[in-house]
Amino acid sequence: PFDVKVDSLMRLMTLQEKIGQTVMYSGGWTVTGPTVSSNNKKYIKEGNVGAMLNVYSAKGTRDLQKLAVEETRLGIPLLFGYDVIHGFRTIFPINLGLAASWDLEDIEKGSRIAAEEASAEGIHWTFAPMVDIGRDPRWGRISEGAGEDVYLGSEIAKAYVKGFQGDDLSKHNTILACAKHFVGYGAAQAGRDYHTVNMGEDELRNVYLPPFEATVEAGVETFMTAFNEVNGVPATANKFIFRDILRDEWNFNGFVVTDYTAINELVPHGFAEDEKHATKLAINAGIDMDMMSSANRLYLEELVNEGSVDETLINDACRRILLTKYKLGLFDDPYRYCDEQREKEVVYKPEFLEAARKSAAMCSVLLKNEGKGLPLNNSQTIALIGPLAKDKENIIGNWAAAGDRKGKAISVHEGIQEYLGDSKIIYAKGCEIEGDDKSEFNRAINAAKRADKVVMVMGEDYDMSGEAASRTNIKLPGRQTDLIKAIRKAVPNKKIILVLMNGRPLDLSEEDHLADAILETWFPGTSGGSGVADVLFGTYNPSGKLPVTFPRTLGQVPIYYNMKNTGRPIPPNNPKEDYKSNYIDSPNTPLYPFGHGLSYTNFEYSDVQLSATTIGSSDTLTASVTITNTGDYDGSEVAQLYVHDKVGSITRPVKELKGFEKIVLKKGESKTVSFDLTVEDLKFYNNDTFTVEPGTFEIAIKGTSDFNFEHIFTLE
Ligand code: IFM
Repeated sequence: PFDVKVDSLMRLMTLQEKIGQTVMYSGGWTVTGPTVSSNNKKYIKEGNVGAMLNVYSAKGTRDLQKLAVEETRLGIPLLFGYDVIHGFRTIFPINLGLAASWDLEDIEKGSRIAAEEASAEGIHWTFAPMVDIGRDPRWGRISEGAGEDVYLGSEIAKAYVKGFQGDDLSKHNTILACAKHFVGYGAAQAGRDYHTVNMGEDELRNVYLPPFEATVEAGVETFMTAFNEVNGVPATANKFIFRDILRDEWNFNGFVVTDYTAINELVPHGFAEDEKHATKLAINAGIDMDMMSSANRLYLEELVNEGSVDETLINDACRRILLTKYKLGLFDDPYRYCDEQREKEVVYKPEFLEAARKSAAMCSVLLKNEGKGLPLNNSQTIALIGPLAKDKENIIGNWAAAGDRKGKAISVHEGIQEYLGDSKIIYAKGCEIEGDDKSEFNRAINAAKRADKVVMVMGEDYDMSGEAASRTNIKLPGRQTDLIKAIRKAVPNKKIILVLMNGRPLDLSEEDHLADAILETWFPGTSGGSGVADVLFGTYNPSGKLPVTFPRTLGQVPIYYNMKNTGRPIPPNNPKEDYKSNYIDSPNTPLYPFGHGLSYTNFEYSDVQLSATTIGSSDTLTASVTITNTGDYDGSEVAQLYVHDKVGSITRPVKELKGFEKIVLKKGESKTVSFDLTVEDLKFYNNDTFTVEPGTFEIAIKGTSDFNFEHIFTLE
């Protein structure tokens, strides 16, 4: 029915009005790039704007919506988009952290809450999820994705889309999702943002495209272009990825928006002669909406009139955008998202803050725990040290939408106070995140001497990750490591617990020697301090697993668990052998592998069973394992199914995640976990087609990616 409505509306529209629907401007409340137009209200009234970004609040959006509805010739409502990435007001852990929960239900619930809050403040559309595979910790935007793995990333991508869009877009509390950045952004050379991407079609199709295809399967309504080029053609002008793959192969029928000023950027890319040429290249490649380039507004009509752009392309783009507005119900009531009463009732609901607390606990990864450094107990005195211990600004991480950096968040100090009160906490900041000042070291050392255990809360500044925040050094910044060394020296026999907040895998080789326990909490969000304290005191037994590899040293980057074997793999019993694929100054292995994460209890894997040792192409193989909680605490474990296709018409990775399940086990309890595997799960792109090839496969179910296979099956 909407198609008919769109057609009859479009019959009334001039070419200029149709082009207007493809134009997006920023309200200027947040600026992530150059602001091209300062005349937004005028353009809206002229019917030259279809969508706005960076405007929120029921009143703010209502005021602009009024201009579109009451002052333009056809009264077509605007679409309001915003970067609602890991929460809107109630901020959840950063996305890399959310991925560490391996908990799809929790991720879907978090994005549902974000949609509830954002939609109550006038937002119709989030520029999320970011489903770029990230394998380079130098890249600042690794913090916004689900890490390095195709399977985990694809499952998480679907969970986000379901959470944001819900089951019915016409409800006032659902928002459009946007799969970004299409495609390859995470493979930017040397981890430098916006940099060149060059990869074979096998890697593109086997690694970088699947999470995007998963969002299409989940019904995502919009896509965003990447800033980078892909094999010499900037994504925003790339017909192969937008027309051939997205539209023709995947049948995506939502609309495509550019990233911020990405059409203009075709000029410095060296792909377009000038902005007019860039406009033509973008629409021809299949781009529907222009975010902030002003290109469509300035040049499209002229390009059509002179016959260089086919008007049907503009009709198609306009139709898709209008259809989306109908689906949201904006033609029934353009103000349905601008309800100040709902806004007051919805944001920061206690149950949202409680959900964020639980997420913060679920996302924390216990990297190391020697000599029972953790959990803490409330009879001990704690020296609480470090620049992030009392922090309320960084704790909500980058891209924190409308999150409050001025005091709403709960710091780790406040979280620990809930357990210890004030008398058992001796606080000393010790140093800043960055800078060379060591003048507070002594105060911190004295605190450590007076306490039973030392908890050090350290990491990065929130804006050391995210867009345009790549680093060439992935160690703890400033003097933080020196402070840990000084404290280790002063209290050699006391337990030091390092609590980390950071937006990327760090090089923790030194800290791994210095600290007894390390808890990776990423940037844990508005209720982060409480959630982290729940883990520290054992109210929540840590269950997070790394979604991304932590290297020993930056020189190993890129490093990820499912690498290829090479023709000269290292012999396991002699990894330093000459003329093998190794380093002369470092092992090949990471410090903490993908899938790693400890618990306060122990899980034993036993009794692996395969339903068959040989399967045919229409069979299902069931693999199962018994997991027993052999330790002293109840806990959750993420069982991970890995497969290795031993020989292929193109080489296959040494391991590939093909399934996972999170189970809860009481102490002493055992459960059997099983996975069904079909040929669909074994398919890959061999530079010609998607195929599954008969042969031998290794298979394992483990609690980490660091293991040797012991079982095989054959596909006939
Ligand atoms: O959504 C973002 C994108 O990820 C990076 N550039 C700016 C956009 C809008 O804020």
